[in-house]
Amino acid sequence: MSESLTTVAYLGATILFILSLGGLSNPESSRRGNLYGMVGMAIAVLATVFGPRVTAAGIPWIVAAMVVGGSIGLYAARTVKMTQMPELVAIMHSLVGLAACLVGFASYIDTSIVLSGAEKTIHEIEIYIGILIGAVTFSGSVIAFGKLSGRIGGKPLLLPARHMLNLAGLLVVIWFGREFIHAETVQAGMTPLIVMTVIALLFGIHMVMAIGGADMPVVVSMLNSYSGWAAAATGFMLSNDLLIVTGALVGSSGAILSYIMCRAMNRNFISVIAGGFGTGGGAPAAAAGDAQPAGEVVPISAVETAELLREAKHVIIVPGYGMAVAQAQHTVFEITTHLRGMGVNVRFGIHPVAGRMPGHMNVLLAEAKVPYDIVMEMDEINEDFPDTDVAMVIGANDIVNPAAQEDPASPIAGMPVLEVWKARTSVVMKRSMASGYAGVDNPLFYKDNNRMLFGDAKKMLDEVLVALKS
Ligand code: TAP
Repeated sequence: MSESLTTVAYLGATILFILSLGGLSNPESSRRGNLYGMVGMAIAVLATVFGPRVTAAGIPWIVAAMVVGGSIGLYAARTVKMTQMPELVAIMHSLVGLAACLVGFASYIDTSIVLSGAEKTIHEIEIYIGILIGAVTFSGSVIAFGKLSGRIGGKPLLLPARHMLNLAGLLVVIWFGREFIHAETVQAGMTPLIVMTVIALLFGIHMVMAIGGADMPVVVSMLNSYSGWAAAATGFMLSNDLLIVTGALVGSSGAILSYIMCRAMNRNFISVIAGGFGTGGGAPAAAAGDAQPAGEVVPISAVETAELLREAKHVIIVPGYGMAVAQAQHTVFEITTHLRGMGVNVRFGIHPVAGRMPGHMNVLLAEAKVPYDIVMEMDEINEDFPDTDVAMVIGANDIVNPAAQEDPASPIAGMPVLEVWKARTSVVMKRSMASGYAGVDNPLFYKDNNRMLFGDAKKMLDEVLVALKS
């Protein structure tokens, strides 16, 4: 494939990647977006493998690597559960970081690249920064994987003088950067490069260890952004324009997503990075600042829930992580169809961080074929709760916690939440009184107009459906 044909193919792939990101911003066009992405990636890989920079002798190696890597990826994608998706994403990010490091070292010791003067300096800066970002992304993502999969505790690790430690690390990295650029030979440059890599790896570990469980969603999207910048840095080292553009697209979209998620959780990005917030997933109820909520917990049966629904005119369903665990989305769809057939106005309220990954609930509801036009964002539906007869909360907890608005001392104070307690009756479906991801008690369960339907969401919804149909 000639140089100019490769450039045209890269341009086509870039356009497809941009169309892909545009498509992924809406559930209705997301399948198309995925298709654009897949076609773009196929074009990019083919144009690179058969492009002018790969010799015929290299092709078998590349094909063998693609078969091994592709098989592992296919196996992981087929076996991973939807609720394990964030950890899979985290470990994938670590591979991008590792690749950036390896490419950096390889291009530094590559004797076929002969540069001098400003060009040499620029190439070395690309290598230094590429390895720096790659190493932080690699070790940070491995720790994020450990935390998300429960192998490492969610509690933030707060070393004494940790900000000073980070600052000292940064100064050492700058100092060794200077040494690296001024090194006369590859051997002399290796020491500062290795020292910087070790510091960057330690920094990645320290940064993510200091972040509490409740902030992990932001960390994953932040590492997604870093992996994009690591890929862009790799593109600079290899003088590959497509990798630079693709990396920048991933880097900037990840940064935008981090910003949106910070807003959804009422967190400041800098304070997330500074760490120390959140006690980790599934911790027992009651956290700092909140006393035992006043009021009584009133249980309800599936048959009574069906009666409430049958008498209702307006129903809002709020799904959360528990719906994903119970795989209850198909029964939710059947109940929705049944109620709509009876003339009930049923809509869904989706919190931006419901579940364990961005768009988690939208994906599940789309899989169950729930129509998109009744699935509303939190901001679109929050003011409709006072005119709602029944708000049905399915396996959600933190995202419907009134303490976020009512208790300034609560760890989730200020986080925007779905105001289900403003409905005439709210029904919360969960197995116990346990707290959610943020480990905070929920005063909603004790409100006069709230009922608790205890049990596995799928089992309970099956019973509600049977009662509705009888
Ligand atoms: P959570 O606050 O985690 O609450 C989920 C609830 O589901 C739990 O309290 C649990 O109570 C219940 N549950 C679990 N299995 C169930 C089952 N089989 N049947 C019925 N209920 C079940 O979830 P949420 O309200 O969706 O809020 C999301 C939380 O996760 C937020 O704190 C968010 O910051 C965090 N987070 C979000 C993301 C993204 S990007 N979405 C990523 C990581 C973390 P029982 O044990 O009593 O059943």
